[in-house]
Amino acid sequence: MKVLVAVGSKYGATREVARRIADELRERGFEVDLQDACDVQGVHYYEAVVLGSAVYGGLWRRDASYLVKEHLAELKAKDVWLFSVGMETVVEPGQPLDEADGFARDIDAHDHARFPGALDWDKLNVGEKALIKVLNPPKGDFRDFTAVREWAAGVADQLESIAAQ
Ligand SMILES: Cc1cc2nc3c(=O)[nH]c(=O)nc-3n(C[C@H](O)[C@H](O)[C@H](O)COP(=O)(O)O)c2cc1C
Repeated sequence: MKVLVAVGSKYGATREVARRIADELRERGFEVDLQDACDVQGVHYYEAVVLGSAVYGGLWRRDASYLVKEHLAELKAKDVWLFSVGMETVVEPGQPLDEADGFARDIDAHDHARFPGALDWDKLNVGEKALIKVLNPPKGDFRDFTAVREWAAGVADQLESIAAQ
């Protein structure tokens, strides 16, 4: 079974989460392509798609959300899992947590997982620093790769039962 793992990431924290998901699926015997969302030419080649993104200002990275919008009908007809990576503490009061809940509904995704990310203050540009300074989110790497692997193992379990049908 061919599986696409696609990711929108600005500073690399989410790309590494995607890599761990791809590793788990490969170890379970699936044929996996891991790509940045901006490099994905199409989804027709794959039977299942795992798509994720870092969250900025409540939104997915543009390449990941573009992938969903551009291939909405095709994705809806496939087995799809979504994941978002972020630091929920940088969400301003009243701001939707992220737009990916809507994507999950639109494409009937099996699941939309949320994983904590990483925030390296020194890498941020001036605008980003100004945006989140007042929220003073925790800085550091909060990624939990055990939880990521466990989630990916659950995806693999579901893919196996789909393949057996
Ligand atoms: C300017 C800015 C805005 C952010 N907005 C959100 C947000 O709305 N929700 C959230 O959960 N995380 C938010 N984050 C945290 C990032 O999603 C987190 O640092 C993520 O791990 C970055 O992933 P990347 O390295 O793959 O780009 C924000 C971070 C920055 C710098």
